[in-house]
Amino acid sequence: MADDMQDKEYVSTDGYKGVRDFYPPDMFIQNYLFKTMRHAVESFGYVEYSASILEPTELYKAKSGEEIVNEQTYSFKDRGDRDVTLRPEMTPTVARMVAAKKRELAFPLRWYSIPNLFRYEKPQRGRLREHFQLNVDLFGVTDVNAEIEIISVAHAIMQAYGARPDDFQIRINNRQILNFIMTSVFDLTDEDSYKLMKLIDKKDKITPAEFELQTETVLKEKTMTFVSMLEASSLEQFKSILQNTFSTEAIGLTELEILFKALAERGITNAVFSPTLARGFDYYTGIVFEVFDLNPENRRSLFGGGRYDDLLSVFGTEKVPAVGFGMGDVTIRDFLESRSLMPPYHSTTDLYICRVTENNDKEVYDVAQELRKKGLCVAIDFSSKKVPDQIKTASKLAIPFIIVIGEDEIQTKQYKLKNLLSGQETMVSLEEIAQTIKRGV
Ligand code: HAM
Repeated sequence: MADDMQDKEYVSTDGYKGVRDFYPPDMFIQNYLFKTMRHAVESFGYVEYSASILEPTELYKAKSGEEIVNEQTYSFKDRGDRDVTLRPEMTPTVARMVAAKKRELAFPLRWYSIPNLFRYEKPQRGRLREHFQLNVDLFGVTDVNAEIEIISVAHAIMQAYGARPDDFQIRINNRQILNFIMTSVFDLTDEDSYKLMKLIDKKDKITPAEFELQTETVLKEKTMTFVSMLEASSLEQFKSILQNTFSTEAIGLTELEILFKALAERGITNAVFSPTLARGFDYYTGIVFEVFDLNPENRRSLFGGGRYDDLLSVFGTEKVPAVGFGMGDVTIRDFLESRSLMPPYHSTTDLYICRVTENNDKEVYDVAQELRKKGLCVAIDFSSKKVPDQIKTASKLAIPFIIVIGEDEIQTKQYKLKNLLSGQETMVSLEEIAQTIKRGV
């Protein structure tokens, strides 16, 4: 090697921290995840939309929540001195799109999208700096029918992935209940209510003693009753503590009762009341939910969403009620892999043609074209490797079928079709190849 080559500084093959490259086997998984999502949501009447990853930064200042705007966005100035942000979530974008065309759109609107999103977070299991997120949103429905449908869609996707009811839990709360308790029972200021809400959101990440201590600094009295309410294991228990201690009914409770009943009637048996569930974003106004992995080694939230009735009013339009959720590809992939629910990889190429010699390339090409016309995906090995090595390549590429073409095959027009998975071989004509492969035999 020449000296100047040795001294040269090469570019690293490492990608940017916290983002992923998708090699074909990863794309296979990604496509499977997206295909299943699309199929499930479209079956409920949701239609797809999309938008640019670039948004004006001010879009997120309105209501996303401080943490995401101040600490987690990729924001920069463009060459025209405009503040630009790589979208960290899709909800502000979809709200902007709906608000912009509100008069032309027919409500209720059922929309979905699978955007890539960017958040400057510490990369760790389940959290990356770029992820893809299915967004399913229903606009224009004020009553709980919207939540019933949206949660049913979330449940249907999990079922479509092969998850069983005891693999996951749908945790549900209503922000109105805690808001009511904070303002009408404890008379907290808006600032203290906000502080307490954020504290509740962090409850599981700090020790019980720390939580009580911090809660006490905000509430001052009846802290333990409040804490016991947050630990209630059912809606009934929560309700009875509230009634017995404060002789009151909270708004938002009846709605939850209707929701739980309707979900049970629809065969959804793993929905539970979770009084501490707050969710991070400030724009949620009512029922919020999160789908939780019950695997003891991976107890974590998989995805979630809720009602956000006021978000569209930041665009100066009248209110448009909205309910939706975001389901990330990273967490769902971990969930499916940890339960062996991911289908095994195979190539999108159906058939690999191995050549015995280089003398009949035109004939080999014609065979491939004929099969492509019949709907097969066909690749030809152009290497001058020996046939067994060409077959090894097909196997490594996870292509399920091969034929070998030499003089005999060209003369007789009969081909030995081999299924590399089962090892089964059959002598077939060109016409029969397409049929056999389509049957997957
Ligand atoms: P979110 O809870 O921030 O909600 O994100 C929803 C889901 O996206 C999470 O539960 C998780 O699956 C995935 N996710 C979020 N951040 C990351 C990350 N850094 N790495 C990997 N996965 C991640 C929202 O974004 C709301 N806009 C969802 C929504 C739609 N609400 C109503 N409609």
